[in-house]
Amino acid sequence: MVGAVQYGALAACIVLFVPMVMAGWHLSRNKMLFFSGALFITLAVGVHLTPYFPAISNFVSSVKSSSIVVSENRDSCISLLHNIVYDVKKPSLEDLENMRDDVDGSWAWARSDPVAACGFQKLGRSDSSDLLNGSWVVVAGDSQARLVVVSLLSLVLRSEEMDSVKVDLFKRHSDYQIVVDEIGMKLDFVWAPYMTNLTDLMMEFKQSKNFPDVLVMGAGLWHMLHVTNSSDYSVSLRLLRNSVVSMLPVSPEFGTDGPVTGSVSIRSPHMFWLGMPVLINSMLISEEKREKMKDAMRNAYDTELYGSKLLRRSGGPLLLLDIQLLSQKCGQQCTVDGMHYVGLVYEAAVHIMLNALLIESHQKL
Ligand SMILES: *[C@@H]1O[C@H](CO)[C@@H](O)[C@H](O)[C@H]1NC(C)=O
Ligand SMILES: *[C@@H]1O[C@H](CO)[C@@H](O)[C@H](O)[C@H]1NC(C)=O
Ligand SMILES: *[C@@H]1O[C@H](CO)[C@@H](O)[C@H](O)[C@H]1NC(C)=O
Repeated sequence: MVGAVQYGALAACIVLFVPMVMAGWHLSRNKMLFFSGALFITLAVGVHLTPYFPAISNFVSSVKSSSIVVSENRDSCISLLHNIVYDVKKPSLEDLENMRDDVDGSWAWARSDPVAACGFQKLGRSDSSDLLNGSWVVVAGDSQARLVVVSLLSLVLRSEEMDSVKVDLFKRHSDYQIVVDEIGMKLDFVWAPYMTNLTDLMMEFKQSKNFPDVLVMGAGLWHMLHVTNSSDYSVSLRLLRNSVVSMLPVSPEFGTDGPVTGSVSIRSPHMFWLGMPVLINSMLISEEKREKMKDAMRNAYDTELYGSKLLRRSGGPLLLLDIQLLSQKCGQQCTVDGMHYVGLVYEAAVHIMLNALLIESHQKL
């Protein structure tokens, strides 16, 4: 039995030193204070309960309290995932003459305080392979979704393998499937340019009772070009939301600050919405596009998206991969047709997604 005095001294040391160690990991002062406070309370409660329980229960409760801190960090880190900075060189005249469709540049997460504390990282081949090992990934949507597939596969495949993948993937307007044997990952790209195509896909999942582990989807550009009616887009977003929610194995109550953790079955897919990029009207390649895809229309579509309760930020099931923000940060030099952007944009989106998966599956590398 440990005496009360030794116990107190030990508690004081923990309260003092653990936060100092955490501070070494660049936790902000507020988080440190919070952590310190949480530890202090836990230990104080623990000390008072010790006579009634074996010493081990104290240890358990202090672990529990630190996991509350971790889950607070988790939500705030998810909201910081898009704090990315681009460093893109303006293309030279020579590049422009050669019609290069890639740019010299790089991206990184901001080094500012709260972002740095989350420890986001670009995953290499072996880490991404570990994370996606044995999983079924479905990416559904239009050409933006296809570009996301290219970025995702570039992470897990070797570049010589990528060449043949690209040939198949870019056969116009068709589905694509690949199984990466080494890591047992199956990836489906489903050509689904219209909202109804996505809703149909949800119905298929529901009927087959077979859900992907990771689902990324997004559509809107085709609707904007061919239907050009944001109220109609709104109707289809709501239909999609309902079909997503009804597809989930356990229909969870989504709170405003994210999905319920714990009560959702482990088999619930991780779901993402691929937002539309910034459209640079003067660069769009056809008169029809320049006419119908004006900024006002694009904004109206986004307003409907945010109002649809499809996204987590409005209490829905899908986490937004904000291509608008990323394409805007990368800038005009990152697109040749005002609509499709260079790899840097989709690559960042994929890393945002993988880091979200890491955070949500409570994994640390
Ligand atoms: C994938 O997981 C299986 C078992 O779950 C393991 O045997 C295999 O080594 C893993 N592969 C990679 C590339 O991590
Ligand atoms: C997608 O939806 C459109 C409009 O509803 C439909 O005409 C088209 O056949 C669908 N495409 C696929 C691949 O299901
Ligand atoms: C736009 O879509 C809504 C909802 O589907 C419909 O009621 C309305 O008539 C459409 N507007 C036009 C101009 O077609």
